[in-house]
Amino acid sequence: MNDFVGYESRNGVGIITINNPPVNALGQGVRAGLVSCLEAGLADDSVNSLVLIGGGRTFPAGADITEFGKPLKAPDLRAVIVAYENSSKLVVAAIHGHALGGGLEIAFGCDYRIGDAKCNVGLPEVTLGILPGAGGTQRLPRLIDPSAALDLILSGAFVAAPKALKLGILDKVAETDLLEAAIEYAGELISSGAPRRRIRDMEINADAKIFDEARATAKKRARGFEAPLKCIQAVENAATMSFDDGLREERVLFEELVSSDQSKGQRYMFFAEREVAKIPDIPRDTPLRDISSVGIIGAGTMGGGIAMNFANAGIPVVFVETTQEALDRGLGIIKDNYAATVSRGRLTQDAMDSRMALFSGSLDFSALSDVDMVIEAVFENMALKKEIFQKLDKVCKPGAILATNTSTLDIDEIAAETGRPEDVIGMHFFSPANVMRLLEIVRAEKTGKDIVATVMKLSKKIRKVSAVVGVCDGFVGNRMLHGYMDQAMSLLEEGALPQQIDKALFDWGWAMGPFAVMDLAGNDVSWLIRQEQAPDRDRNLPYPHTIADQLCEQGRFGQKASKGWYLYSEGSRKPEIDPDVDALVLKVSAGKGITRRDISDQEIVQRCMYALANVGADLLDEGIALRAGDIDVIYNAGYGFPRYRGGPMLYADMVGLDNMLASINQFREDFGPLWRPSKYLEKLVAEGKTFSGT
Ligand code: 3HC
Ligand code: NAI
Repeated sequence: MNDFVGYESRNGVGIITINNPPVNALGQGVRAGLVSCLEAGLADDSVNSLVLIGGGRTFPAGADITEFGKPLKAPDLRAVIVAYENSSKLVVAAIHGHALGGGLEIAFGCDYRIGDAKCNVGLPEVTLGILPGAGGTQRLPRLIDPSAALDLILSGAFVAAPKALKLGILDKVAETDLLEAAIEYAGELISSGAPRRRIRDMEINADAKIFDEARATAKKRARGFEAPLKCIQAVENAATMSFDDGLREERVLFEELVSSDQSKGQRYMFFAEREVAKIPDIPRDTPLRDISSVGIIGAGTMGGGIAMNFANAGIPVVFVETTQEALDRGLGIIKDNYAATVSRGRLTQDAMDSRMALFSGSLDFSALSDVDMVIEAVFENMALKKEIFQKLDKVCKPGAILATNTSTLDIDEIAAETGRPEDVIGMHFFSPANVMRLLEIVRAEKTGKDIVATVMKLSKKIRKVSAVVGVCDGFVGNRMLHGYMDQAMSLLEEGALPQQIDKALFDWGWAMGPFAVMDLAGNDVSWLIRQEQAPDRDRNLPYPHTIADQLCEQGRFGQKASKGWYLYSEGSRKPEIDPDVDALVLKVSAGKGITRRDISDQEIVQRCMYALANVGADLLDEGIALRAGDIDVIYNAGYGFPRYRGGPMLYADMVGLDNMLASINQFREDFGPLWRPSKYLEKLVAEGKTFSGT
């Protein structure tokens, strides 16, 4: 018994309660308390069975992740589980909230498991780049169907009580108060002479082919990740080895994973995703505004996608457009999108109908007089946006949030058009806005704290991963991408071809290479921006990159035109190499007098990645991004950055900021003024620090 785990007895049952808020993580104190309370229960002659339960909001949600990578302090979780498994008195685990990872593994050390109706169980270790390392890979496939066990371990999914009961992970679901039900259950088990149940002694019969199939799938779906393959290996061992040998091998595989860079990256992302929701000067209890209705101006590509997020969350949307045709077209596209989801069996027709019923439209701004929030998504034109915000200022009720989805324009300038700049904020969605998880919440100079807090809360409701950023051209994600894309373009002119650059970055882990991305987004989008911004833009290019412009002049806008950097067959998204593009690249190099050279994949990755992180350093310096972790969350959620490498800033830390700085200085000598080391990078190197503080 200690501060973390308590023992008491009631009705002949010993109750062991874990109290380590917020999630009862199984840190050293909890593990020690679990052992001493078990001993107390075994020594207590007034009880003949035990119940293990979590205090507060949950059963243990796993090992304490902050302890990984540090020297282990006894007792080890595996020893705790073995102690429960070998207990001379029957033990019932009583689960509420979440029983995850090591939490579920300790429940596997108990004889029986009862859960309340709302509990969830799961083994999410794979999402942290590790495997269930306290017997989970050996006990779960003995307890339930090995194929289902493999699925659970590989997906890391949370399983709700009814399914957990059906699978056999739970033996019973409590209808009443969980503790009372668990005490009663333990009493019944004893009085009915129910057998002790050690999962380690259960038979396992797995068809060998499930492992080969799982490996083939994991190589495709989790390309580059090490943990899934080791999870499969561990479960296969359960089927082919004795329990003790399987357990020993599980530990070997766990140790390999937990000390890997991949797991370091994935654990860092777990904490970064929680940190990103904390804004230092905005207290957690900031009063929020109620958002029960939303107006969207512009039912185009972005407006339509944004609106779907709100309808999916049950929030009604009023569109304002310039013409009935534009309105009808926008609603038609939304309808087609939902219909496609229905036809794939992922949405019922009823649900689609009720979502469609949440949309209304108007050609008149007065339709926005009563909404709680407006999001403007019209053409990217400052004069037009200013005019719209002047109108909104007149029409919208006091307290309404006025948001813009601009991707490049100065939101302070837009806010200044209103008499209420504190109510104006940027909500930078990514295309397609109904699919992409990322939302950059752009805090302008005068944006009210309650507005930022309200939009952050709302972003969770519409299931977005959000990060608060400051105002600048491109905000965080796209501004960094400019640096990365500039390198891709330079490499092209110096000697590489689009397919080589794309392959090098894809093999490194990006979901897509830069040229395939441009074809997907539409080459015309950045072409228009380049044309608009040409006079103001000086990114110190040694020479203007012209290949992208020349492609657009030929109408090669990307996938939508069936040709761009690549060719696309009718109805296919698969890029095919186009000799005409290769010829154009060679011609441009020759025209500029560049002697093309062989460029290694390593140089491609280094130059693109360092350019990305170097701009990230500027953003941290300018306070546009609050933390390196926020940037990494943005790149994970919105840009297809491989999670097992953390994000671009953690990657730079892992390379070593001194190494990165030395390379950038060398690149500056070799390639000219496009390379300029960030002052912040230089400062961190001088101070021996890292971006992430790790
Ligand atoms: N270790 C350390 N801290 C943890 C933790 C853990 N396992 N799980 C959550 N926390 C912390 C979070 O960082 C957060 O801290 P903060 O308030 O300082 O930011 C706090 O607990 C609350 O967490 P959430 O914000 O995530 O709370 P939610 O209510 O949104 O979600 C949850 C609760 C579903 C339990 C979620 O926290 C979760 O998924 N936790 C991690 C589960 C997990 O991965 N478990 C496996 C661990 S590895 C393991 O067990 C290895 C074993 O096999 C040997
Ligand atoms: P779009 O051209 O598809 O849609 C714009 C819509 O606004 C059109 O339907 C048009 O009829 C309507 N509109 C124009 N003036 C209007 C007015 N005065 N009143 C009401 N409606 C009006 O443009 P898209 O791509 O949806 O872009 C919208 C905004 O979103 C822009 O600011 C853009 O920078 C930003 N954005 C675009 C992304 C993209 O990938 N397309 C990504 C992120 C932001």
